[in-house]
Amino acid sequence: MEKVKRFGVSIEQNLLNKFDNYIKENKYKNRSEAIRDLIRENFVNNAWEDLNKLVAGAIVIVYDHHKRALLDKIVDIQHSYQDFIISSQHIHLDHHNCMEIIVVKGVMHKLLELESLLKATKGIKHTTFAKSTLGEEI
Ligand code: NI
Repeated sequence: MEKVKRFGVSIEQNLLNKFDNYIKENKYKNRSEAIRDLIRENFVNNAWEDLNKLVAGAIVIVYDHHKRALLDKIVDIQHSYQDFIISSQHIHLDHHNCMEIIVVKGVMHKLLELESLLKATKGIKHTTFAKSTLGEEI
């Protein structure tokens, strides 16, 4: 376990009020835990700005599986990026719609390339990318 250090923070009253509301809304037990999370989040976000950095995340797509050509296209794209895909999960949302959660790991620019290709595929209704970390920078 890493040693925990204490430090003082000077902050405007107005900003502190907002921060305390944020703490309450997000169910933090104390300010320290909230500050630690914000710092970690900032470092993770910075890592995603480095296009050559190794990162991990999940791309989520929603599409209509009745469009067979679209299914082929989605599979083709994923095969082209198999080195960056750890796993994918298919969920049947309803009679028409499917969701796929594609867990990715690799250099940032390749993952963004994969996201862009999926996003640009006609028929995919929604694409989102949950960007996470390999845990090194936090
Ligand atoms: Ni399905």
